[in-house]
Amino acid sequence: MTLLDPAPATAPLSIAMREGSQAAHTAAESSPFMAELTAARVNALAVRDYLLRFREVYRTLELLGRELGDHPAVAAVADPALDRLSAIESDLAHWSQAAGAPAPEVFHSPATDAYVARLLEVREWPPLFVAHHYTRYLGDLSGGQVIGRVLDRELQLEGRGTAFYAFPLIPKPKPYKDGYRARLDALNLTVEEQARIVAEVSVAFELNQAVFAELGRDLPSYLR
Ligand code: HEM
Repeated sequence: MTLLDPAPATAPLSIAMREGSQAAHTAAESSPFMAELTAARVNALAVRDYLLRFREVYRTLELLGRELGDHPAVAAVADPALDRLSAIESDLAHWSQAAGAPAPEVFHSPATDAYVARLLEVREWPPLFVAHHYTRYLGDLSGGQVIGRVLDRELQLEGRGTAFYAFPLIPKPKPYKDGYRARLDALNLTVEEQARIVAEVSVAFELNQAVFAELGRDLPSYLR
Protein backbone atom coordinates (compact mmCIF):
# COMPACT_ATOMS: atom_id res chain seq x y z
CA MET A 1 0.00 0.00 0.00
CA THR A 2 1.37 3.44 -0.92
CA LEU A 3 0.59 6.61 0.94
CA LEU A 4 -1.89 7.52 -1.79
CA ASP A 5 -3.96 4.36 -1.37
CA PRO A 6 -7.19 4.91 0.51
CA ALA A 7 -7.59 3.09 3.81
CA PRO A 8 -9.49 -0.20 3.43
CA ALA A 9 -13.17 0.64 3.36
CA THR A 10 -15.05 -0.71 6.35
CA ALA A 11 -18.74 -0.03 6.64
CA PRO A 12 -19.78 1.68 9.86
CA LEU A 13 -20.84 -0.94 12.43
CA SER A 14 -24.54 0.00 12.34
CA ILE A 15 -24.65 -0.40 8.55
CA ALA A 16 -22.76 -3.69 8.63
CA MET A 17 -25.15 -5.01 11.29
CA ARG A 18 -28.22 -4.00 9.33
CA GLU A 19 -26.91 -5.30 6.00
CA GLY A 20 -25.65 -8.51 7.55
CA SER A 21 -29.08 -9.29 8.98
CA GLN A 22 -31.37 -8.21 6.14
CA ALA A 23 -32.05 -11.72 4.86
CA ALA A 24 -32.50 -13.06 8.40
CA HIS A 25 -34.89 -10.19 9.10
CA THR A 26 -37.09 -11.09 6.14
CA ALA A 27 -37.08 -14.71 7.28
CA ALA A 28 -38.04 -13.70 10.85
CA GLU A 29 -40.89 -11.50 9.63
CA SER A 30 -42.28 -14.31 7.51
CA SER A 31 -41.96 -17.11 10.08
CA PRO A 32 -45.49 -18.54 10.48
CA PHE A 33 -45.83 -17.54 14.14
CA MET A 34 -44.63 -13.96 13.61
CA ALA A 35 -46.80 -13.58 10.52
CA GLU A 36 -49.89 -14.61 12.53
CA LEU A 37 -48.91 -12.40 15.48
CA THR A 38 -48.32 -9.42 13.20
CA ALA A 39 -51.73 -9.98 11.62
CA ALA A 40 -53.37 -10.24 15.08
CA ARG A 41 -54.77 -13.67 14.22
CA VAL A 42 -53.44 -15.26 17.42
CA ASN A 43 -55.26 -15.95 20.70
CA ALA A 44 -54.37 -15.03 24.29
CA LEU A 45 -52.55 -18.32 24.89
CA ALA A 46 -50.21 -17.57 21.98
CA VAL A 47 -49.31 -14.15 23.34
CA ARG A 48 -48.82 -15.64 26.81
CA ASP A 49 -46.47 -18.32 25.51
CA TYR A 50 -44.57 -15.80 23.38
CA LEU A 51 -44.10 -13.53 26.41
CA LEU A 52 -43.11 -16.43 28.69
CA ARG A 53 -40.18 -17.11 26.38
CA PHE A 54 -39.11 -13.53 25.87
CA ARG A 55 -39.41 -12.78 29.59
CA GLU A 56 -36.37 -15.02 30.08
CA VAL A 57 -34.54 -13.42 27.15
CA TYR A 58 -35.08 -9.87 28.45
CA ARG A 59 -34.41 -10.86 32.05
CA THR A 60 -30.98 -12.06 30.89
CA LEU A 61 -30.32 -9.11 28.56
CA GLU A 62 -31.14 -6.64 31.32
CA LEU A 63 -29.12 -8.53 33.91
CA LEU A 64 -26.09 -8.52 31.59
CA GLY A 65 -26.59 -4.86 30.71
CA ARG A 66 -26.23 -3.98 34.38
CA GLU A 67 -23.49 -6.48 35.14
CA LEU A 68 -21.29 -5.55 32.16
CA GLY A 69 -22.24 -1.87 32.08
CA ASP A 70 -18.70 -0.66 32.74
CA HIS A 71 -17.54 -2.01 29.41
CA PRO A 72 -17.64 0.82 26.81
CA ALA A 73 -19.42 -1.29 24.17
CA VAL A 74 -22.12 -2.31 26.64
CA ALA A 75 -22.39 1.25 27.98
CA ALA A 76 -22.97 2.49 24.41
CA VAL A 77 -26.27 0.60 24.13
CA ALA A 78 -27.58 -0.39 27.59
CA ASP A 79 -30.23 2.06 28.73
CA PRO A 80 -32.84 1.58 31.48
CA ALA A 81 -35.31 3.48 29.25
CA LEU A 82 -35.38 0.36 27.06
CA ASP A 83 -35.96 -2.16 29.87
CA ARG A 84 -38.81 -4.55 29.00
CA LEU A 85 -38.93 -6.99 31.91
CA SER A 86 -41.53 -5.21 34.01
CA ALA A 87 -43.65 -4.45 30.92
CA ILE A 88 -43.56 -8.14 30.02
CA GLU A 89 -44.57 -9.08 33.58
CA SER A 90 -47.60 -6.84 33.42
CA ASP A 91 -48.58 -8.06 29.93
CA LEU A 92 -48.20 -11.64 31.10
CA ALA A 93 -50.70 -11.02 33.88
CA HIS A 94 -53.16 -9.66 31.30
CA TRP A 95 -52.78 -12.46 28.75
CA SER A 96 -52.73 -15.29 31.31
CA GLN A 97 -56.00 -14.05 32.67
CA ALA A 98 -57.46 -13.60 29.19
CA ALA A 99 -56.37 -17.15 28.30
CA GLY A 100 -57.77 -18.53 31.57
CA ALA A 101 -54.35 -20.17 32.00
CA PRO A 102 -52.02 -18.87 34.72
CA ALA A 103 -48.42 -18.40 33.62
CA PRO A 104 -46.48 -21.47 34.80
CA GLU A 105 -43.46 -20.85 37.01
CA VAL A 106 -41.49 -23.43 35.08
CA PHE A 107 -42.05 -24.25 31.43
CA HIS A 108 -40.25 -26.32 28.86
CA SER A 109 -38.66 -24.36 26.00
CA PRO A 110 -35.39 -25.68 24.62
CA ALA A 111 -35.20 -22.69 22.24
CA THR A 112 -35.43 -20.23 25.15
CA ASP A 113 -32.85 -22.19 27.13
CA ALA A 114 -30.45 -22.13 24.17
CA TYR A 115 -31.00 -18.38 23.68
CA VAL A 116 -30.33 -17.61 27.36
CA ALA A 117 -27.26 -19.87 27.41
CA ARG A 118 -25.78 -18.05 24.42
CA LEU A 119 -26.53 -14.66 25.99
CA LEU A 120 -24.63 -15.64 29.12
CA GLU A 121 -21.62 -16.52 26.98
CA VAL A 122 -21.15 -12.85 26.02
CA ARG A 123 -19.51 -12.46 29.45
CA GLU A 124 -16.43 -13.94 27.79
CA TRP A 125 -16.25 -10.97 25.40
CA PRO A 126 -18.76 -8.22 26.33
CA PRO A 127 -18.85 -6.42 22.92
CA LEU A 128 -20.93 -9.39 21.69
CA PHE A 129 -23.68 -8.09 23.98
CA VAL A 130 -24.17 -5.28 21.47
CA ALA A 131 -25.29 -7.76 18.77
CA HIS A 132 -27.98 -9.24 21.01
CA HIS A 133 -29.09 -5.89 22.33
CA TYR A 134 -29.43 -4.46 18.82
CA THR A 135 -31.38 -7.46 17.52
CA ARG A 136 -34.08 -7.23 20.17
CA TYR A 137 -34.35 -3.57 21.19
CA LEU A 138 -33.90 -1.95 17.79
CA GLY A 139 -36.44 -4.46 16.50
CA ASP A 140 -38.83 -3.51 19.32
CA LEU A 141 -38.41 0.16 18.42
CA SER A 142 -39.07 -0.64 14.73
CA GLY A 143 -41.30 -3.56 13.72
CA GLY A 144 -42.39 -3.93 17.34
CA GLN A 145 -44.13 -0.57 17.10
CA VAL A 146 -46.11 -1.81 14.10
CA ILE A 147 -47.03 -5.07 15.85
CA GLY A 148 -48.17 -3.23 18.99
CA ARG A 149 -50.42 -0.91 16.98
CA VAL A 150 -51.97 -3.75 14.96
CA LEU A 151 -52.68 -5.84 18.09
CA ASP A 152 -54.19 -2.85 19.86
CA ARG A 153 -56.43 -1.97 16.93
CA GLU A 154 -57.49 -5.45 15.81
CA LEU A 155 -58.08 -6.86 19.29
CA GLN A 156 -59.59 -3.60 20.65
CA LEU A 157 -57.15 -3.64 23.55
CA GLU A 158 -57.13 0.08 24.33
CA GLY A 159 -53.61 -0.25 25.63
CA ARG A 160 -54.19 -3.37 27.73
CA GLY A 161 -51.57 -6.10 27.37
CA THR A 162 -49.28 -4.15 25.03
CA ALA A 163 -46.84 -2.58 27.50
CA PHE A 164 -44.10 -4.63 25.83
CA TYR A 165 -44.45 -2.47 22.71
CA ALA A 166 -44.71 0.86 24.55
CA PHE A 167 -41.64 2.90 25.44
CA PRO A 168 -42.95 5.73 27.62
CA LEU A 169 -39.43 7.06 28.15
CA ILE A 170 -38.72 7.10 24.39
CA PRO A 171 -41.52 9.13 22.84
CA LYS A 172 -39.78 9.36 19.46
CA PRO A 173 -38.14 6.09 18.33
CA LYS A 174 -36.60 7.57 15.16
CA PRO A 175 -34.16 10.02 16.78
CA TYR A 176 -33.46 7.47 19.50
CA LYS A 177 -32.49 4.86 16.88
CA ASP A 178 -30.33 7.43 15.08
CA GLY A 179 -28.48 8.18 18.31
CA TYR A 180 -28.12 4.46 19.03
CA ARG A 181 -26.55 3.83 15.62
CA ALA A 182 -24.23 6.82 16.09
CA ARG A 183 -23.04 5.36 19.41
CA LEU A 184 -22.40 2.00 17.72
CA ASP A 185 -20.42 3.69 14.96
CA ALA A 186 -18.30 5.61 17.47
CA LEU A 187 -17.05 2.42 19.16
CA ASN A 188 -13.34 1.93 18.87
CA LEU A 189 -13.21 -1.55 17.33
CA THR A 190 -10.79 -3.33 15.05
CA VAL A 191 -12.04 -4.76 11.77
CA GLU A 192 -11.89 -8.23 13.31
CA GLU A 193 -13.84 -7.18 16.39
CA GLN A 194 -16.49 -5.54 14.24
CA ALA A 195 -16.78 -8.72 12.14
CA ARG A 196 -17.32 -10.79 15.29
CA ILE A 197 -20.18 -8.52 16.35
CA VAL A 198 -21.78 -8.61 12.89
CA ALA A 199 -21.56 -12.42 12.91
CA GLU A 200 -23.17 -12.49 16.36
CA VAL A 201 -26.17 -10.55 14.99
CA SER A 202 -26.80 -13.53 12.70
CA VAL A 203 -26.58 -15.82 15.72
CA ALA A 204 -29.09 -13.62 17.55
CA PHE A 205 -31.52 -13.77 14.63
CA GLU A 206 -31.15 -17.56 14.47
CA LEU A 207 -31.92 -17.84 18.18
CA ASN A 208 -35.05 -15.75 17.64
CA GLN A 209 -36.04 -17.88 14.67
CA ALA A 210 -35.70 -21.01 16.80
CA VAL A 211 -38.08 -19.52 19.38
CA PHE A 212 -40.58 -18.62 16.62
CA ALA A 213 -40.24 -22.12 15.13
CA GLU A 214 -40.94 -23.66 18.54
CA LEU A 215 -44.06 -21.52 18.89
CA GLY A 216 -44.98 -22.33 15.29
CA ARG A 217 -45.22 -26.01 16.10
CA ASP A 218 -48.25 -25.25 18.28
CA LEU A 219 -49.75 -22.81 15.80
CA PRO A 220 -53.11 -24.61 15.34
CA SER A 221 -53.84 -24.15 19.07
CA TYR A 222 -52.73 -20.52 18.93
CA LEU A 223 -55.14 -19.18 16.29
CA ARG A 224 -58.28 -17.38 17.32
C1 HEM B 1 -42.61 -9.73 12.48
C2 HEM B 1 -42.76 -8.58 12.04
C3 HEM B 1 -41.70 -7.54 11.85
C4 HEM B 1 -41.92 -6.40 11.18
C5 HEM B 1 -43.21 -5.95 10.54
C6 HEM B 1 -40.67 -5.65 11.20
C7 HEM B 1 -40.49 -4.43 10.61
C8 HEM B 1 -39.36 -3.67 10.67
C9 HEM B 1 -39.18 -2.39 10.02
C10 HEM B 1 -40.24 -1.67 9.19
C11 HEM B 1 -37.93 -1.96 10.30
C12 HEM B 1 -37.27 -0.68 9.79
C13 HEM B 1 -37.42 0.44 10.76
C14 HEM B 1 -36.52 1.62 10.48
O1 HEM B 1 -36.16 1.88 9.33
O2 HEM B 1 -36.15 2.27 11.44
C15 HEM B 1 -37.34 -2.96 11.15
C16 HEM B 1 -36.08 -2.87 11.67
C17 HEM B 1 -35.51 -3.81 12.49
N1 HEM B 1 -36.07 -5.01 12.89
FE1 HEM B 1 -37.86 -5.70 12.35
N2 HEM B 1 -39.74 -6.34 11.91
C18 HEM B 1 -40.31 -7.51 12.32
C19 HEM B 1 -39.70 -8.50 13.03
C20 HEM B 1 -38.46 -8.43 13.58
C21 HEM B 1 -37.84 -9.45 14.37
C22 HEM B 1 -38.51 -10.75 14.74
C23 HEM B 1 -36.60 -8.99 14.71
C24 HEM B 1 -35.53 -9.62 15.54
C25 HEM B 1 -35.62 -10.74 16.15
C26 HEM B 1 -36.44 -7.69 14.13
C27 HEM B 1 -35.32 -6.89 14.26
C28 HEM B 1 -35.15 -5.66 13.67
C29 HEM B 1 -33.98 -4.83 13.80
C30 HEM B 1 -32.74 -5.17 14.60
C31 HEM B 1 -34.21 -3.67 13.08
C32 HEM B 1 -33.26 -2.48 12.93
C33 HEM B 1 -32.59 -2.50 11.58
C34 HEM B 1 -31.65 -1.31 11.48
O3 HEM B 1 -32.11 -0.24 11.14
O4 HEM B 1 -30.46 -1.48 11.76
N3 HEM B 1 -37.58 -7.38 13.44
N4 HEM B 1 -38.22 -3.98 11.36
